[in-house]
Amino acid sequence: MKARVFSGIQPTGSPHIGNYLGALKNWVKIQHDYECIWGIVDLHAITNYQKPEELRQQIVELAAVLIAIGLDPKHTSIVAQSMIPAHAELGWMLTCVTPLGWLERMTQYKSKAQAQEAVGSGILQYPVLMAADILLYQAAIVPVGDDQSQHLELARDIAQRFNSLYGETFTMPATKLPSVGARVMGLDEPDKKMSKSATGPNHAISLLDDPKVITRKIMRATTDSNPAVDFETMGAGVQNLLAIYQAFTECSDDEVRNQFIGLRYGDMKKKVAEAVVAALEPIQARYREITADPGYLDTVLRESAARVSVIADDTVRKTKKAMGLYTK
Ligand code: TYM
Repeated sequence: MKARVFSGIQPTGSPHIGNYLGALKNWVKIQHDYECIWGIVDLHAITNYQKPEELRQQIVELAAVLIAIGLDPKHTSIVAQSMIPAHAELGWMLTCVTPLGWLERMTQYKSKAQAQEAVGSGILQYPVLMAADILLYQAAIVPVGDDQSQHLELARDIAQRFNSLYGETFTMPATKLPSVGARVMGLDEPDKKMSKSATGPNHAISLLDDPKVITRKIMRATTDSNPAVDFETMGAGVQNLLAIYQAFTECSDDEVRNQFIGLRYGDMKKKVAEAVVAALEPIQARYREITADPGYLDTVLRESAARVSVIADDTVRKTKKAMGLYTK
């Protein structure tokens, strides 16, 4: 039997190349080696206010992006988290075994809570729901970008605590990071991770950005005071651009060195932009085809939900039984 894999992405705007290189590209690569379940985690998205009509639309659009990048819905499941009540159900049971202090220590919680005036308590519970997503499917492997590492550690701590309180119930999930692209930085601020919530017009490249827009954003990316690529002294901005190039083209370290050493920044950026556009154009063409048939996406989401519900319901039954809750 193949080991099971789960990972998720929030349907909050179209994914950027950080999401792609940190996680999604890996998902496509491993989809035939494992039994994979990919979550469009809409219950996580509502920890921040989302306009209902937009959220509904974004869930479907994200399903289209996931298929456009190469996930094959015949072999892997693409699920909208809210279609499977077991996520929320297990989330509550795990909340009850998670000490408050563990959640208050999460760096993402601390930075999000600071940034908002009225913080919904869902932001604090966010990583417990994430643990539930993973443990619900008894996933052995979770491919994510580096920013999710702390949440994954917490998921293991919660699983361990539950197993020691109530008996062996959950598989211990391992974190899988990509070798290049685990932390893509903002083009305008290379000391900050590329994120959907940053507002600068040149901060992130969306997978669906027009080629001209992609090129413009890369040409304007922050570099440093050197005129050309110097591997000994280059700053974070140049490092980030070369990491993006390497992750898209899958060149070795030596190949990147040989291709870029001494290249003036203007030429370096042109080369990076060409590689990004070449990788994204076929994805965008497939995306246009897929979204022309919204009925197809609805079918994919429904069929996936039906397939994974069997696993999810089995785990909820086991968990309830372990805790002494009333169940058949
Ligand atoms: P989300 O939606 O923020 O991001 C989806 C994936 O993209 C990765 N990522 C990055 N990788 C490299 N560089 C970046 N700048 C960058 N920005 C984002 C993330 O690490 C992630 O893998 N909490 C999760 C969603 C989630 C989940 C789960 C993930 C919910 N349940 C269970 C794994 C397992 C999140 O908000 O990802």
